[in-house]
Amino acid sequence: MCGIVGYIGKRDAVPVLLKGLKTLEYRGYDSAGIAVLSGGKLSLRKRQGKLSVLDASLRSDPLQGLLGIGHTRWATHGLPNEKNAHPHLDCSGKISVVHNGIVENFGTLKTQLIQQGHTFRSQTDTEVISHLIECYDEGDLVQAVRRALKEIEGTYAIVVLHKNHPDQILGARKGSPLVVGVGGGEQFLASDVLAFFTYTKKVLYLDDGEIVTLRKNRIAIQNFRGKPVHRNFHRIEWNVSLAEKGGFPHYMLKEIHEQPQAIHRTLAGRLEEEKLSLSFEKKLSSSLLKRIRRVIFFSCGTAWHASLIGKYLFERVAQLPSEVDISSEFRYRHPIVAKDTLAIPISQSGETADTLASLREAKEKGAKVLSICNVVGSTIARESDTVLYTHAGPEIAVPSTKAYTSQLTALYLLSVYLGRLRGALGAKEERAYLKELASLPRRLEEVIKDRHIQEVARECGKRYHTAANFLFLGRGVNFPSALEGALKLKELSYIHAEGYGAGEMKHGPIALINEKLPVVCIAPRSETYDKMASNIQEVRARRGIILSVATKGDPAIAKYSDHVFYIPEVSELFSPILVVVPLQLLAYHLAIESGCNVDQPRNLAKSVTVE
Ligand code: AGP
Repeated sequence: MCGIVGYIGKRDAVPVLLKGLKTLEYRGYDSAGIAVLSGGKLSLRKRQGKLSVLDASLRSDPLQGLLGIGHTRWATHGLPNEKNAHPHLDCSGKISVVHNGIVENFGTLKTQLIQQGHTFRSQTDTEVISHLIECYDEGDLVQAVRRALKEIEGTYAIVVLHKNHPDQILGARKGSPLVVGVGGGEQFLASDVLAFFTYTKKVLYLDDGEIVTLRKNRIAIQNFRGKPVHRNFHRIEWNVSLAEKGGFPHYMLKEIHEQPQAIHRTLAGRLEEEKLSLSFEKKLSSSLLKRIRRVIFFSCGTAWHASLIGKYLFERVAQLPSEVDISSEFRYRHPIVAKDTLAIPISQSGETADTLASLREAKEKGAKVLSICNVVGSTIARESDTVLYTHAGPEIAVPSTKAYTSQLTALYLLSVYLGRLRGALGAKEERAYLKELASLPRRLEEVIKDRHIQEVARECGKRYHTAANFLFLGRGVNFPSALEGALKLKELSYIHAEGYGAGEMKHGPIALINEKLPVVCIAPRSETYDKMASNIQEVRARRGIILSVATKGDPAIAKYSDHVFYIPEVSELFSPILVVVPLQLLAYHLAIESGCNVDQPRNLAKSVTVE
C-alpha cells in the first residue's frame, strides 16, 4: 500500500504535497518523492527513508510550482531506495506518475517496452505506466492515459503530471482508493481524504474505471470508454484523529476490515483465474525445492501461530514433513539441520531479532531459507535465499490482524505450489484448493460485514470484560486458532487467556472450569467436529460460559452455547482465515470495554528487534 497525492491551484504546491504525504505515511514509509511543474520545467525530488528525509532536502534546496504530485512508498516490487521511489518518468522526462497498487503484468509490459526502445530507470512495476502513456501520447493526455491503462492488469490509483499540460493533473483508479478534494480555485487528489482534509471537506469519490482531469476551476470525470461521468459531492464530517484511520476509531479495526483486500493483494499476480504462478523475489529453483525433504518453520507470537497452521497445510497438501519452532527456542535446542531442509521464517516486520538469529543459525547449518515477510527489503527478507512477500500493506496496530491472514494466504499458496511440484497433489485436487483459495477475500468480507458477529462480539465485550481468565479450545488446524484468539485477548484486554487443543482439556485445564470462566470453543464443521461437540458438553456440564464459533446452519452448537459466532461454510483447512475474525473482534471489544489502548497495548512494541 502506498500514499499518493496531487495538487493544482493557487498555493505553492510543495508544502501542500508534503503535508498530504505526512498524513498518508501510515500507508507506507520506506521512500518518498514529489514532482512539480513551474515555468515549463518538470522538477523531481525523491529520497529513500522516511518523509522527513525528503522534507529536509526540500528545505535546504527548495522546489516551486503551482501544481504537483507526490508519493510515500510501501515497496512491493524493487528495493526501497531512491531509484525506486516515485514519481516515475517516461524516457522524455515529460511525464511523471505516482502509483498505489500492483501491476501484475509488468514483466511482460516491461519486456515489450524495452524491445520498443524504452529505457527504464527503476526495478518497479509502476514505471511501465509512465512509458505506456508516452507510447500513446499524441497530445490528448486523457486519451493517452486511457489507452495506457487498458494494457494494465492489476490494481492502481495513479496521478499523472505532464510537462506539456501545465494547466492540469490527471487521476485514475482501479482497485485502489483515490478521492478528489474540491476547493475554490484549487483541487486535490489523494489516496485518503486525510491528505487534504484541512484545506477542504468537499470531496468526490472516484469509482474503479474512472479518469479525472483536474484544472484550477474545473473537474471532469470520464470512464475508460471516454463517457463523461457525473458524480455528486460529499461533505466529510470527520475530526482529524478519525480521518487518520479512514473513519475507524482504531487502526486495528481498520486493519481487520482491510483483511479481504490484503488477501486479494497477496493473491494478486500469483492466483489468476484459479491458476497458480508463484515467482519468488530471488531465485530458488524448482529442482532444488523438489529435493526438499523437511521443512522447519520458526517465528514468534502471531507469526508462530501462522507457522503452526503452515505445518498442517504442508503435511496435508504437500506431504512435506514439517516442524515448528518458536524463534527464541530454535537455536538453543541445537537443531539437526540437513542440506535438504527448507527453513521458513515468518515475520510481518522482517526485523524480529529471534527470528533473524534463527535464520542465521539455519543457514549456517546448511538449510535453504524461504521467508514470508510483509516488509520489502527488511533484514530477514534480505538475508533469506528467497522471499514470498505478503502484501498486507503497513500494519500500524501492534496487535497483528491483516498480516496474520495474509501469512496464512501465503502458506496456502506455498503448500499447493509445493504439493504440485512434488507430485503430492493431482490436478483435480489442485483446482479444488485454488478455487477455494480464490473465494477467500469474498468470504472474509462476508464474515467481517456480518452484523450478527459484530453484535455478539460487542455483547460479549460488555458482559465478560471483568472476567479474570478465558480459555480457548480448538482442534486440528484450529488448535493454532485457539492460541491466536488467546494471544489477541491477552495483548489487547490484559485478561489472562490460554489456548489449548480441546483434546487436552481432560489432562488438566478442565479443573479450571466453573461458572465464571468464559470458554471460547472453535467448532466449525470438521473431521473432529463430534469430538469438539463433546468437549463443549463437558464444559457445559461444569457450568462454564460457552462462546462458540460454528458453521452457519449448525443448530446443534447453539443448544449448548451461551453465544455463537456463525461463519460461512468453508472446508476445514481454510477455516482458520474465517474463524480468526470473530476472535479478533471479541478481543477488540473486550479491550474497548476495559478501556485499554487498542493500537498500542502497554509494554508491547510492533517489532521486537531485541532478543
Ligand atoms: C501479534 O499480535 C503481536 N504483535 C506479536 O506477537 C507479533 O506477531 C510478533 O512479535 C512477531 O512479529 P513479526 O511477525 O514482525 O516477526
